[in-house]
Amino acid sequence: MELFDVYTLFNVTPVHARGCTVWDDKGQEYLDLYGGHAVISVGHSHPRYVAALTEQLGKIGFYSNSVRNPLQEQLARRIGEVSGYEDYSLFLDNSGAESNENAAKLASFHTGKDRIIAFRRSFHGRTSGAVALTDNPAIVSPFNAHHRVTFCDLNDADGVERELAKGDVAGVIVEGIQGCGGIHVPEDRFLRDLERLCRQYGAVLILDEVQSGYGRTGKFFAHQWAGIRPGIITLGKGIANGFPCGGILIAPEFQARKGMLGTTFGGNYLACACALAVLDIIQTEHLVENAYKVGEYIKEHLPESERITDVRGRGLMLGIEFGESVAPLRQALLYDKHIFTGVAGGNMIRLLAPLCLQESEADRFLEAFNEVLAAK
Ligand SMILES: Cc1ncc(COP(=O)(O)O)c(C=O)c1O
Repeated sequence: MELFDVYTLFNVTPVHARGCTVWDDKGQEYLDLYGGHAVISVGHSHPRYVAALTEQLGKIGFYSNSVRNPLQEQLARRIGEVSGYEDYSLFLDNSGAESNENAAKLASFHTGKDRIIAFRRSFHGRTSGAVALTDNPAIVSPFNAHHRVTFCDLNDADGVERELAKGDVAGVIVEGIQGCGGIHVPEDRFLRDLERLCRQYGAVLILDEVQSGYGRTGKFFAHQWAGIRPGIITLGKGIANGFPCGGILIAPEFQARKGMLGTTFGGNYLACACALAVLDIIQTEHLVENAYKVGEYIKEHLPESERITDVRGRGLMLGIEFGESVAPLRQALLYDKHIFTGVAGGNMIRLLAPLCLQESEADRFLEAFNEVLAAK
């Protein structure tokens, strides 16, 4: 049997990793500024994380959501403390898409309505509802296209209000910072308008923090730059540093009902042990502050070049936009300089480094970036 061929692969086989460094099967070392697509939050194979997972595996790896699991309660308490959402409740699942799916479902249960507003250039995942909320027709099958979704322009509060006024909108979903769509930061004022409008028209504001959350932008959640409190916040990626895990934070006004949401694997012991270790490391190593500091350092020291048309983002969620395809630059960074970076669209280098990136590692990137810019 062969693999279903849906991924474009780089010719690199990582076999070992630590912190922001990855080694391939030939012993070549790479600097990781991509974090496996924003997943590696506290660094690869952090000893405390490895110990937590190993220790938990030796006790019990899995049961089901029909028994008490104190690790889930501990995790809810800790996420509440670290994020400032102590009064919210937590539902654990397995991925970002599943979190957005659950958020849309909960908004619909809560309001009794069935239409969701999303934004142009959005990405919310690939399950049925999540992909319908994603503004990319190439990945929406006819089966997914039956959901009632309306796309508005980011930062256009009047456009959102016109849709909300029709009275059938269950929720508005927006990324803390649009990631796959090209690092577009919603204006703080716009997020505050969304909060007010959702309240006014009885819709739920859903903040997709799957990529922008968990400290990446220098606050625990990107939307906290705007000082808002959404109805539902969705999590994934960095929450368990690579162990599959997702979740949603739910405001106190939502009423739970037995069986309303559910999952086999969500909130299992191993995922919880990983997620608890991640929060401990984020706090003791001050990684939220570090993400902001090193992200700003990169922004300040990027080379001056007419070819760079814009630099966007906050903390360690950065996009460097060009007026041309970045494919040659990214290839040169990977194969000549041994640095992993991401992209968004064809013209943007996207940096999603682990939150523990050091300034010395940023310097290595800046030097290499200068050199490939001069050569390509
Ligand atoms: C903002 C956002 N939401 C949701 C998802 C989907 O997450 P997952 O691939 O874990 O389902 C992603 C993945 O890139 C994302 O960037």
